[in-house]
Formats: sequence, structure tokens, C-alpha cells
Amino acid sequence: MGEIQKVGILGSGIMGSGLAEVCAKAGYDVVVRSRTKAAADAMVASIDKGFAKAIERGKATEEDRAATLARITATDHLGALADCDLVIESVVEDLAIKKALFAELEQIVKPSGILATNTSTLPVIEMAMVTQRPDRVCGVHFFNPAPIMKLVEVVRPITASDETIAAALAFAARCGKDGVEVKDRAGFIVNALLFPYLNNAVRMLLNGTASVEDIDTAMKGGCNFPMGPFALLDLVGIDTSVSILDALYDEFRDPNYAPVSILRRMVTAGHLGRKTKQGFYSY
Ligand SMILES: NC(=O)c1ccc[n+]([C@@H]2O[C@H](COP(=O)([O-])OP(=O)(O)OC[C@H]3O[C@@H](n4cnc5c(N)ncnc54)[C@H](O)[C@@H]3O)[C@@H](O)[C@H]2O)c1
Repeated sequence: MGEIQKVGILGSGIMGSGLAEVCAKAGYDVVVRSRTKAAADAMVASIDKGFAKAIERGKATEEDRAATLARITATDHLGALADCDLVIESVVEDLAIKKALFAELEQIVKPSGILATNTSTLPVIEMAMVTQRPDRVCGVHFFNPAPIMKLVEVVRPITASDETIAAALAFAARCGKDGVEVKDRAGFIVNALLFPYLNNAVRMLLNGTASVEDIDTAMKGGCNFPMGPFALLDLVGIDTSVSILDALYDEFRDPNYAPVSILRRMVTAGHLGRKTKQGFYSY
């Protein structure tokens, strides 16, 4: 397994676009594949726009912008990922869709390439086992927004080789991130610890212990957290939060993981948080 030089990104959503930016800034050649060329091009345009703002604020130069963008290729062809040393899948959180993509990647990406997923909660082993190279499949879980958040959870399914995990950790370090190694269990480290806390905050609200605002103020001031649990649930998205809690409950059957019912009702009502301008707060 040689050094990683070329990185493929599958998916041009919030995370795919952040990943492309992080990898190109770290000096990797990057190929971003979306289902349509227009979506892939729009993603590159949004990175360019981000640079324009950073240049205005004196945080980047025209040279940085030109060099970073020159390293990114946008495409709608899966075949363009063939000679990537690492491919990171970052499409919608749906196991059937991810497994189908891994089966296709197996046929396309050179045998020495590492296939990784940015899933937040799904079992990485399920994706590894649709390939002929389960030793070269792992998770690389970046956080949102990827260019800013320091952590990458490198997820180790039981089939992964030591070389694969070492290469993923070295990749995270070159991206300027703190990589941690974690076993392939629902929620990995961060979401497994964070979501019972968020769920219990909702329970506390429903018990009438305190208001949304006062619980958020208490956790900011009392624990030095940058935001309280309700602001964070609104940022993550109530729908995404319910999916994460469901995945955790499915695996561990711990009542702390069973989403409090009001969360599902909020999803039905379309109160998904910041993205729909209504969640625990109005935006
Ligand atoms: N949003 C977060 O806070 C966050 C944080 C860490 C990890 N993740 C993970 O990153 C991954 C992507 O999440 P996101 O937030 O960028 O989602 P998003 O909704 O912004 O983007 C999803 C992408 O998947 C593509 N897509 C949808 N259906 C597809 C299909 N059938 N085939 C191929 N592509 C398809 C979409 O076109 C889009 O490019 C998920 O696995 C998610 O769990 C998300």
C-alpha cells in the first residue's frame, strides 16, 4: 500500500463539499463525483466562493485559491475514481445506497485503493463485506463543518488491516485533524456519548424542569459548552438526530437511546431545526 496522493470523494452535499475542500487544502489531488456534473460543479463554485470571503478577510491569498481549486476535479463519472489511493463515500445516510456504491467501487477502484465511508452511525462492516477487499475498508468520520472541526474518528471494522488504519490516521493528520481510532459500533465515540445527553435534555424539558433557553444557558455557563443541547439539536437537524438515536437504540437497546416521542412529532411537522427555520428555536 503506497502513500495516499489522490483522494476521491463520493457525494457533493454538506460533508462531501467540506471534505473536498479539506483534502485539496492539504495538498491532495481530489476527484469529487456527484450524480450530476452540475451538482459537482456547484460544489466547486461554493468552495471558490468561500475563498473569496476568506481573501476579503485576509485569511487566504489568491495563490491559495488558485492552487487549491487546481487540485479539484469535478465529475459525474464513477470511473474517474479508478486511480484514487483513497475514496471517501459521503452520500445520504442509507445503508442500501451505500452498499450498492461500495459494490460498484470494488469493480472500479484499483485493488490497492482504500475504500472509506463518512457514515455517522451505520455499520462499516456491512460496506466492507460487499467488496473483495474488506481489509482495505474503514470509516473516516469527519464532523460538520469539516474545514473547521478538528476531529476525525477512524472506524475499524473487524476485517480492517493495521496498514489501512495506519494510512487513514496518517491521512487525517495530513488534513490537520486529530484522528482517533474506534471500533465499528453504532455512534462510534462522539455520537454514542452525545446523543443520550441530547435526548435527556428533551426529557427534562418535557418534565417541566426548566425552559429550552434556561437549559441551554445552564449547560453553556455550567459546563463551558459552546452551545446548549437544544441549539445543538437544531444545528444537527431533528431528522438526523432521530436517525442517529434509532441506530443507537437498534444496536444497544438502551432506553437512553430511544428517541423521546416529541422528536418524531417535530419531524412529522417539518420542524427540523435550522434547515427549516423552525426547531426548538425559530430562525
Ligand atoms: N451533516 C452532518 O452533520 C454530518 C456529519 C458527519 C457525517 N455525516 C455523514 O456524511 C454523509 C453525507 O451527509 P451530508 O450531511 O453531506 O448529506 P447531504 O444531504 O448534504 O448530501 C448527501 C449527498 O448524497 C447524494 N445522494 C443522495 N442519494 C444518492 C444516491 N442514491 N446515490 C448517490 N448519491 C446520493 C446527494 O446528491 C448529496 O450529494 C452521511 O453518511 C452522513 O451521516 C453527516
